[in-house]
Amino acid sequence: MNPNGKYRPFEPIPITNRTWPTKTITKAPLWCSVDLRDGNQALVNPMSVEQKLEFFDLLVKIGFKEIEVGFPSASDTEFNFMRRLIEENHVPEDVTLQVLCQAREHLIKRTFESLKGCRNAIFHLYNSTSPAQRKYTFNKSKEEIKQIAIDGIRCVKSCLSLSEGTNIRLEYSPESFSTTEIDYALEICEAVKKEWGTSRENKIILNLPTTVECALPNQFADSIEYFCQHISNRDEVIISLHNHNDRGEGVAQCELGLLAGADRVEGCLFGNGERTGNLDIVNVALNMYTQGVDPQLDFSDIQAIAEDYKRFTGMEIHPRTPYVGELVYTAFSGSHQDAIRKGMAARVGKADNEYWDVPYLPIDPHDVGRQYEGIIRINSQSGKGGAAFIMEQDYGISMPKAMQPVFGNLVKEAADKAQRELQPAEIFDVFENTWIKTKSPLNIIEISERHLEGERGSNVPEQVATMLTIEWNGKRYAIAANGNGPLDAFVSAMKQTPAPKFNITSFHEHSVGTGSDTYAMSYVQITKEDGSQVWGVGKSSNVGRAGIAAVVSALNFKG
Ligand code: KIV
Ligand code: ZN
Repeated sequence: MNPNGKYRPFEPIPITNRTWPTKTITKAPLWCSVDLRDGNQALVNPMSVEQKLEFFDLLVKIGFKEIEVGFPSASDTEFNFMRRLIEENHVPEDVTLQVLCQAREHLIKRTFESLKGCRNAIFHLYNSTSPAQRKYTFNKSKEEIKQIAIDGIRCVKSCLSLSEGTNIRLEYSPESFSTTEIDYALEICEAVKKEWGTSRENKIILNLPTTVECALPNQFADSIEYFCQHISNRDEVIISLHNHNDRGEGVAQCELGLLAGADRVEGCLFGNGERTGNLDIVNVALNMYTQGVDPQLDFSDIQAIAEDYKRFTGMEIHPRTPYVGELVYTAFSGSHQDAIRKGMAARVGKADNEYWDVPYLPIDPHDVGRQYEGIIRINSQSGKGGAAFIMEQDYGISMPKAMQPVFGNLVKEAADKAQRELQPAEIFDVFENTWIKTKSPLNIIEISERHLEGERGSNVPEQVATMLTIEWNGKRYAIAANGNGPLDAFVSAMKQTPAPKFNITSFHEHSVGTGSDTYAMSYVQITKEDGSQVWGVGKSSNVGRAGIAAVVSALNFKG
């Protein structure tokens, strides 16, 4: 179906002198969490008072100074929650409780009752203003809708005396601002502002919600800048954003709205909220963080916050959700793994606050309490570097660079066969089964060595005599040879068997572990008579034996 006609494009904002496109975000806005109100309203099972209390404590711990705690006139649960917050002293001195209320007299009075004893409160009054709401929901003219707002403010003012001792500020939302004619939204907000009476010391919060997101982010920014330009006494007003995410642009709209002049942001953790959610405050805050701007919210243990959030709300977090999803710090693709591995290696020994430029990772996982372990995970898309990274990081095994492609291919084949991700232990099994546990065609049954001292003062070098019983393809051979070391003697002795003749063309070794648990890892590349080259690995508490085991492993290698 051609959508033209059934749907219409957003009406452009008549602004020509916009300044937002060349601005950047340089400081944190005022944040207001609406998890306990907007977020809660969107849950299949709204939170209990106990859950809300715990969630409130979490929000305080994160650093929110303004928290919309509910709609106290809407239900007993909401009202009781408010009372418990106040009566049980849950609210730190520097935290302001925000309460939402429709512009209707009996609801306003009930909301005031809930505020008794509260130190600092924001009374958040709203009425819906868009053409569709005016027409279908209220069947009222523009003037009548404006009057609802003005009457609401009058009522709030008349109730102020009921809450002596509470410092009350006003927030007004022309609900459905995003679909309201911009000049009409301004007209109502001017009327509200005038009715309330503002000053620089007593600013009004004008909250401009994208109740339903319906424009491009640049168009939204235009509407915010236009509003900021035209509202009178701009310095007596806090412009607040309350983005929903219907087009999946909540974060972008909020960020451009900040460039356009907004001072304050309302949103929910991990984007919970009606339909496609409220603005994801974590996302916006950590976007700032990765630009070097302190968001003034603490997400240094994002996993713990996510676990609490899931427990309170019953919502899941998609594994690809920015900054928090299970997979957002994980690379499966070989080229990504390689770049990450090199970037991470370059950071070894550097201070934690050193400039972060690891490819493919926009933030240091440690900054949000995530570990490096899961950064590289292995499936059939992964490359040589990934499997080597796991072996090094999880098992301390550093195979030589030239050997990594061989191992990478073996792991890739195993993942392809399994048709799934391989766990580190499975990757280790591939390594062990390929190089450490093989006993055929070559198996050493017995080995002994004798050290032959060179004659004192002579040039005759030290020698090692090695005696072996081996099996080659199931047949036993007793062999012996001298060499300048155990490995050399072993290689010479092997010439007396039907095993292919070979030379050692590469040798590496390192130790793993500490103290009495230390063992040696040896890696050899042998070149056989026919020119073919294979790698072998040996592991032993005895360095010499590790080298011999590596040659055995190479001769047993089935690539
Ligand atoms: O989305 C919205 O418009 C709201 C208002 C009540 C602010 O939640
Ligand atoms: Zn909302």
